[in-house]
Amino acid sequence: MNDWVSSVVDAGYVVAVIVFILGLRAMSSPETARRGIVQAGIAMLVAVAITFLSLTTLNTGITNFALIALGVVVGGGLGWYWARVVQMTSMPQMVAVFNGMGGGAAGAIAAVELLTSLGNPTTAGLSIAGAVIGSISIAGSVIAFLKLQGWMRSKPLVFPAQQPINIGVLVVGLTFGVLAVVQVHTLWLLPFFVLLLAFGVLMALPIGGADMPVVISLFNALTGVAVALDGFALVNGPLGDAGYAMVIAGTLVGAAGSLLTLLMARAMNRSVGNVLFGAFGATEETGVTIQGQLKSIEADDVAVMMSYANEVIIAPGYGMAVAQAQQKVKELADLLEGKGVTVKFAIHPVAGRMPGHMNVLLAEAGISYDKLFDRDEIDDEFPNADVVLVIGANDVVNPAARRAGSPLQGMPILDVDRAKNVIVVKRGQGKGFAGIENELFYRDNCRMLYGDAQAEVGKLVQALKKR
Ligand code: TAP
Repeated sequence: MNDWVSSVVDAGYVVAVIVFILGLRAMSSPETARRGIVQAGIAMLVAVAITFLSLTTLNTGITNFALIALGVVVGGGLGWYWARVVQMTSMPQMVAVFNGMGGGAAGAIAAVELLTSLGNPTTAGLSIAGAVIGSISIAGSVIAFLKLQGWMRSKPLVFPAQQPINIGVLVVGLTFGVLAVVQVHTLWLLPFFVLLLAFGVLMALPIGGADMPVVISLFNALTGVAVALDGFALVNGPLGDAGYAMVIAGTLVGAAGSLLTLLMARAMNRSVGNVLFGAFGATEETGVTIQGQLKSIEADDVAVMMSYANEVIIAPGYGMAVAQAQQKVKELADLLEGKGVTVKFAIHPVAGRMPGHMNVLLAEAGISYDKLFDRDEIDDEFPNADVVLVIGANDVVNPAARRAGSPLQGMPILDVDRAKNVIVVKRGQGKGFAGIENELFYRDNCRMLYGDAQAEVGKLVQALKKR
């Protein structure tokens, strides 16, 4: 019986891992991303079912199945409900919480392994490493959630000697971990965990809300590494096969999270070190005078301008997401195309608040992917555009990025200012996430269409319908 179950369990984990890898691959393109999510979900379901099967039939020494089932039902139910009701703009904080749970679970598994196998140096060493990374990840993710949710000041919290204090807490915490393993003494585990959790909090405090998506992605990568380390620690125990699955899944998450972290940092022309330790946004830029003046325009006039255009490029940003204007934007694009105008969308990699934010919203509204262009693909096109319609974007179109000394210095932006006419839809004088003035708005070729993005794009649609 046990041999038969072992074979099914082995085969199940192999299937789960293959489907998981295929799912991850599909997630790399917006066209196949949905399928990838479903595949990865199925892989996870198979892995959980197989683990449950091995727990109930093989002699693992684990018997409290009702409690495990309760955990799966309650956790799965809450996750399902929250993911269904969450607004797209609140997605980063939800990811922070879900990811933090992963870190917490990895830390908890490491804690159990440490309490039961402290005498085995290999298992204990791996568990200590898993516990370090998992604890930092859950504590840091909680701070990320609080900042993004607005339950805590989102600006960087800085204080004197911050980095030396942080390093001190980390070093003392690690010392307790080493002592626990060397002296085989569980008492040291308590200060070890407390200090590592404190380090996770301290590490996230000087990071501003604007940089949080990058940090969440980094914590996600760390969670993956913690899970992989836990997997190594479990391999020799009664749940050895689950350990292998955790090593593979954890490594994939670690690699994907690291690449995403680098991609976002590169899109802002910042190093990961600068994101973590630079306290970006703590100080405001002073002594810069912008030439020119703000000039407003009405929706009717913009509609006339666009209906005579050959090419219109739409550059969406966070404000479009807040206003939920994507459906109206789709109507606008359809109307313009009906009048023979070429419409393209310019998507900056960090427009909005999370990777792929704009692609997901526009796809949701039914705008086809072949109309969406990355920054590299469309940048040379701006001088040919008769009108660029910037909808709720700010930092990603700010020419200050080309100026030395600007907080945005070096960030590759959409060069919309090179178009013949630029129309910016925004509610008022609100700044972007980086908290600095936008020099684009003062340029001669730029007009401001003030108002909520959904309402203003709606007015453009009405005006075009009348023409
Ligand atoms: P932001 O620079 O945040 O600007 C958004 C603008 O939208 C604001 O200036 C605001 O001006 C306007 N707005 C807000 N609500 C609106 C509404 N209902 N209707 C119309 N306009 C509205 O956005 P962005 O250009 O998309 O840049 C994204 C920022 O996030 C960058 O700084 C980027 O570095 C950062 N970030 C993004 C990511 C990812 S992965 N996306 C990761 C890390 C950091 P008003 O208040 O005047 O309306």
